[in-house]
Amino acid sequence: MKNIYNNINLLLICTIFFVGCKSNSEENEKVVATTSEEQEQEKGLKDYYSEYFPVGVAVAPNSFEGKSKELILQHYNSMTPENVMKMGEIHPEQNRYYWEAADKIANFAREHDMKMRGHALVWHQQTGDWIFKAEDGGQVSKEELLQRMKNHIDTVVSRYKGTIYAWDVVNEAISDDPDEFLRKSEWYDIAGEDFIIKAFEYAHEADPEAKLFYNDYNAVIPEKRDRIYKLLKMLVDRDVPIDGVGIQGHWSIIDPSEQELRKAIDMYSSLGLDVQITELDVSIYPWEKERREMREDESDEFTPELQQQQVDKYKMFFDVFRDYKGVLTGLTFWNIADAYSWLDYYPVEGRKNYPLLFDEDYEPKEAYYEVTEFEETPDENEE
Ligand code: GLA
Repeated sequence: MKNIYNNINLLLICTIFFVGCKSNSEENEKVVATTSEEQEQEKGLKDYYSEYFPVGVAVAPNSFEGKSKELILQHYNSMTPENVMKMGEIHPEQNRYYWEAADKIANFAREHDMKMRGHALVWHQQTGDWIFKAEDGGQVSKEELLQRMKNHIDTVVSRYKGTIYAWDVVNEAISDDPDEFLRKSEWYDIAGEDFIIKAFEYAHEADPEAKLFYNDYNAVIPEKRDRIYKLLKMLVDRDVPIDGVGIQGHWSIIDPSEQELRKAIDMYSSLGLDVQITELDVSIYPWEKERREMREDESDEFTPELQQQQVDKYKMFFDVFRDYKGVLTGLTFWNIADAYSWLDYYPVEGRKNYPLLFDEDYEPKEAYYEVTEFEETPDENEE
């Protein structure tokens, strides 16, 4: 980013010099043209989408260096900590919080006037075991679990009040088994559905201004979508303080279809909830929760055919996102560039994936140009 400022400064100095010294108006026009071209080059995703929604990215404390820092500042105006605010990291023991990593991200957000999403207060993974354990080593009571959860939510949400505008309060509470409703997690075993309701209530008490989200994956696949919808409707009907739903968006070059995506956004927004895409990436492999083998040819090459399929899929997703202007209130990518993605480790460790808009050298991919070249969607009340 420093480079950008240096370039802009240099450009300004050149412009002043030329304007001052040349009386020839043709020369002046040339300089003005270069200035606007330069500005055009520095435009990022966030600028193309400024009339639509903030564009965010999942980050780690070591993201604020080198090329990843430049990309963050050029393209994104919102951030989500990829891991460091999860309960296991930020609250590793009952009486110990670890703030350093999360504070680093919050400080960067404040310093650069970026929005920040908090992720995630209550989840069945990456949660310290201590929370479910009673002092005698057995399972904690429901009352004690909810009290511990309240302490966690109060402490974490209060600390970032005014910086974090939206929280993923409950993450992935719906079961993957179509015959089950809520996931049989320890949260559920001990506290039943109350853990969800209480989490939203406690978060609202801690920061009444924060937007509170339920967040899940496979949220546009019909059978899971319907169960997520059922949960959300139950929360809304009971006046639980929930503001929105996060569709994670761990998608692939194969799924979901445009029709499924539109239907899911329509259903969720019909409940009066904000809808955000919170963890977007477009895998070059079919999405599967379970571990799968390498391709038959053992290759993880990003072939021109796969690249084209990804370009087409990204284009379709963004066409739909723009159609839902005013309904979609945020879009966040899960990681910065193909140089590093969690999908390089999951579900097959060591199988390279290329799911983002920037390549392994942090350069824009063709999909980037495809999603940034579009005609503005007119506002509904405009002629
Ligand atoms: C889920 C979680 C994220 C992250 C991804 C994998 O989607 O919500 O926090 O752990 O899995 O990186």
